[in-house]
Amino acid sequence: MLAPEEVQRMQADALAAIAAATGLDALKAVRLAHAGDRAPITLANAEIGALPPAARADAGKRVGTARAAIREALAARQVELEAERDQRVLIEEAVDVTLPWDRGLEGARHPVTIMSERLADVFVDMGYEVAEGPEVEAEWYNFDALNFPPDHPARETQDTIFVEGPDPAVRSGVVLRTHTSPVQIRSLLTRPLPLYVVSPGKCFRSDALDATHSPVFHQIECLAVDEGLTMADLRGAINAFVEAVFGEGLQTRLRPDFFPFTEPSADVSMQCHVCRAESTKPGADPCRVCRSQGWVEIAGCGMVNPRVLVACGIDPDRYSGFAFGLGIERSVMIRHGVADIRDTFDGDVRFSRALGMEA
Ligand code: DAH
Repeated sequence: MLAPEEVQRMQADALAAIAAATGLDALKAVRLAHAGDRAPITLANAEIGALPPAARADAGKRVGTARAAIREALAARQVELEAERDQRVLIEEAVDVTLPWDRGLEGARHPVTIMSERLADVFVDMGYEVAEGPEVEAEWYNFDALNFPPDHPARETQDTIFVEGPDPAVRSGVVLRTHTSPVQIRSLLTRPLPLYVVSPGKCFRSDALDATHSPVFHQIECLAVDEGLTMADLRGAINAFVEAVFGEGLQTRLRPDFFPFTEPSADVSMQCHVCRAESTKPGADPCRVCRSQGWVEIAGCGMVNPRVLVACGIDPDRYSGFAFGLGIERSVMIRHGVADIRDTFDGDVRFSRALGMEA
């Protein structure tokens, strides 16, 4: 076992196995087999003590040299294999920091918000101020001051969401405002005359949800009170916003209607901005937006009822005013040909994106 050829063979076997080890685990096994406690060279080393003293030094030197060569080869291969592993890990576990980071969707304003701001901007450009009021509103502002009689059907719980009352003992209940018109009263009571205000905001009615009704929706209200205002001024204001929002050259039409807070009152229609009344001609394609009527109803309006002015302490012989109000979801639906109001608040980003999100 301690013969020179034997020792050399052990060394050669070990070095060959070391060179053949292709991974750190394999090298570990090689170390155990060729340098461990039960490796041939280790066992040979243990045999040295049993040799006659004269032979020990020589055998010790050969075995020692072989063991040192094996140790060195193991250490060198260990370094090599670790370097290889590190190299591989760097490639396999690399994080590609060059991935695009700017492809996420950016948040943007909702089509209802955009419409609301666009409408308000039209009036702000004409010198109106934006006025806001509370969504939880005193019944007095929402109805009484607007000349709704106490038994008006709109006050009934089927239309109005009451927060307090209605209670005959309580003079004025508290409601979720059913329209933005109470902001007219709040403005008339707190702002100096002449007064030009525009009021966008959320409204509530206990309507069942369907394609055209929602218990929560938005309106925008316009109110002007000044000396000498007439229905011609009302028409001018209406034409201005129709032009700004729906396009130039669209005719508007007023037809008699009734609202307690305006006298006279009218409903406002505009010529259909999609077919421009072409769909009413015989043999023409039908129009989805105006249902081939040629006109679309867009707002309620009128001259401020003198009773409203009186309720706010304003002299109706000196001042007159006009007002109108419209639904913002409805405006979005008309403008973009949306058939179902639920699309406006379902929260599906594809709806907003299709209507052109603005930052
Ligand atoms: N407040 C009315 C409604 O919700 C809309 C309205 C009609 C507002 C006529 C007005 C107006 O200012 O003059 O149905």
